[in-house]
Amino acid sequence: AVLADADVYRLTTRPAVAELLPGLRTPVLTYGGSFVGPTIRATTGRRVIVHHTNALETGTSVHLHGAHVPAAHDGFPTDLIAPGTTRTYEYANQQAAATLWYHDHAHHMEAEHVYRGLHGFYLLEDPGERALKLPRGSYDIPIMLTDARFAEDGGLVFIMDDSGNRTTLLANGRPAPYLPVAGRRYRLRLLNASNMRVFQLRLAGGEELVQVASDGGLLPAPAPTDTTTLSAAERADVVIDFSRYPEGTKLVLDDVLSGQPVLRFDVGERERDDSRVPSELRPQDPLPEATIERDVTLAYDVDLGWFTINGKLFDPERVDFTINEGSTEIWRIHNSADPIGVPHNLHVHLVQFQVLDRDGVPAGPQERGPKDTVALAPGETVRVKATFADHRGRYVFHCHQLDHSSMGMMAVFEVV
Ligand code: C2O
Ligand code: CU
Ligand code: CU
Repeated sequence: AVLADADVYRLTTRPAVAELLPGLRTPVLTYGGSFVGPTIRATTGRRVIVHHTNALETGTSVHLHGAHVPAAHDGFPTDLIAPGTTRTYEYANQQAAATLWYHDHAHHMEAEHVYRGLHGFYLLEDPGERALKLPRGSYDIPIMLTDARFAEDGGLVFIMDDSGNRTTLLANGRPAPYLPVAGRRYRLRLLNASNMRVFQLRLAGGEELVQVASDGGLLPAPAPTDTTTLSAAERADVVIDFSRYPEGTKLVLDDVLSGQPVLRFDVGERERDDSRVPSELRPQDPLPEATIERDVTLAYDVDLGWFTINGKLFDPERVDFTINEGSTEIWRIHNSADPIGVPHNLHVHLVQFQVLDRDGVPAGPQERGPKDTVALAPGETVRVKATFADHRGRYVFHCHQLDHSSMGMMAVFEVV
């Protein structure tokens, strides 16, 4: 049925062939046929209904990353859409404008599924954000960053925990593509949808990027910078003013860590521009006093042979944290470097949190907006604070380096 107060989408999860590298045919998994799934555009307060049909031979589960939704619609890893069946997810969009994304979350399979293409953008707008007059419409461009390892014939090689060999960077499914832009401001919504890679993005020459939003929406104030760093699943919306460059300029966005170009902007003619970047965007919600503090320790367990959360591997039947509905909590997340120091991150479903501090130093300007994923260098401790306002039920939190989560670096909290 078509409901007057909702936008209805139908997506079929199915295999397809994409041209990711010029002239090569790459078998991929898709939402409806394209390597980057269709972009869903939503408005705060207006419902979106997505009918997902699973045409794969394995179970799937669709998670809307960063969304505040009832547990039955969150895509719990064992809440699968069986092959050949359809599942309806409903999103009320009761949250602020943000760059969200949807991706597979099937137990133990999310790493391979997402790597092969089960990912798409979900862009949420609200009237307050619109009133700010940031660049909109065709000047607001989502860019999904991934990496891949290609076989000679163009096939995607997926080997668990093989991230060092995934050396081809893709922007919206293409290696270092170019984007013709007019000489005016653009909003770019950068998403790190890779399984494991950290992207450190910088315009060649150290030209200015102005970050306006992070995972869960607008920052309190624009953060001008020359680099923005994204661990897996993190988002940064940046505004670039191309009117500062003469027509014909080719401006390259590089990934500093791999030394590779990600994307090139070819600056065209100057254009009339009514957009702006106001000096205040959206104040951070003051959260109530926290009543609980918890420790979340990320570590390698020698006996279990894998990365764990508080010493345990994922058990979808076990509840790790029981949280009272309405309560505000501080989580002290520690990436133990003992005995193996590798970067991790932590993503929490259901809520957007505030980053309080990193090793005791207050969050920097790029982390002062609502966040759902935080990066943790080896040895680092990050404290975050969230209110679990509503929606009872079971949700997961996990390292979003999906090779890690797929192999058990995940845990369950239940709101009661
Ligand atoms: Cu982006 Cu649990 O996921
Ligand atoms: Cu999520
Ligand atoms: Cu990890």
